[in-house]
Amino acid sequence: MKYTFCGNSGLQLPIISLGLWHNFGFVDDYDTSREMIKYAFSEGVTHFDLANNYGPPPGSAEINFGKIIKEELSSHRDEMIISSKAGHLMWDGPYGDGSSRKSIIASINQSLKRTGLEYFDIFYTHRYDSDTPVEETMQALVDVVRQGKALYVGISKYPPKEALKAMKYLKDRDVPCLIFQDKYSMFNRKPEEKILKLTRENGSGFIAFSPLAQGLLTDKYLNGILKESRAANPNGFLRKEQVTPELVEKVKALNVIAIERGQTMAEMALAWALREVAVTSLIVGARNVPQLQDSLNALNNLSFTEEELSLIDSILDSAKL
Ligand SMILES: NC(=O)c1ccc[n+]([C@@H]2O[C@H](COP(=O)([O-])OP(=O)(O)OC[C@H]3O[C@@H](n4cnc5c(N)ncnc54)[C@H](OP(=O)(O)O)[C@@H]3O)[C@@H](O)[C@H]2O)c1
Repeated sequence: MKYTFCGNSGLQLPIISLGLWHNFGFVDDYDTSREMIKYAFSEGVTHFDLANNYGPPPGSAEINFGKIIKEELSSHRDEMIISSKAGHLMWDGPYGDGSSRKSIIASINQSLKRTGLEYFDIFYTHRYDSDTPVEETMQALVDVVRQGKALYVGISKYPPKEALKAMKYLKDRDVPCLIFQDKYSMFNRKPEEKILKLTRENGSGFIAFSPLAQGLLTDKYLNGILKESRAANPNGFLRKEQVTPELVEKVKALNVIAIERGQTMAEMALAWALREVAVTSLIVGARNVPQLQDSLNALNNLSFTEEELSLIDSILDSAKL
């Protein structure tokens, strides 16, 4: 594993982290979830990304993760960076959604209880909530750090203007925004417009979620939709309609480059996202250990020629996604 400093902080993150959005809930196979966590950690993946609502049912990924850590890795807590988030719908009523002080503080208390952890390394506001002043949300983050419930804080999916406001608020209170979490992959290049520059200029790290575009940037959809795939999973967030013939054609063209580089499609997609210097880490998802192994193999070849990069750009530019 390679580690890199997160923004201006002294915290190093593995360049590939593991996310528990899918495949770690009560509906999933517990033994497989446990094997993935153990394998990841044994390969130097020290960072695990959770949220209050991951499951299903919501909360179950935190419960399973807490159990796995307690049973298998409790003596390694100081070698791990564990994050969680609040902001999406979690419980009924006006306080279980959004980013009010009430929601953030109640949610971190619940998440600590579910995981059995004493603190989170990173706690995020999961999304921008236009009904709550940015200052209110940020002060709640400052306070969870002051209370010892989180060591660092981050923000996710904030529009650039609100992100800048949030970063300034946090910096003025000596609780800098450690990290910005956003969707980034060959198929989602929006952060290249403003956010990557903004994070660099403000000393925050950037961590990409769904770097494989939920599996689209692997070879799994090249010949139809497999039963064992997120697009075929009623609990999954990838819809069958998103697997369009145009998109599959693009992945086929990209896959030719990957093969020439001696990589799988997934390996190349991850290496490509890591070419961007502002990217601190990628949070990958996996349904089993072999998928995770495939993702970690990306580390074997992270460099691209100018020719490869412009060929990839031309394939992506012509994409009708
Ligand atoms: N901040 C936010 O709002 C937010 C939003 C989304 C995600 N996240 C974080 O980002 C993490 C990763 O998101 P993601 O799961 O969408 O990431 P991803 O890495 O883009 O997609 C992972 C999925 O791709 C498929 N896959 C992975 N490796 C493969 C391989 N070698 N061959 C074939 N298929 C492969 C698997 O799906 P199947 O096998 O099931 O098809 C796997 O579950 C989440 O767990 C969460 O921690 C955060």
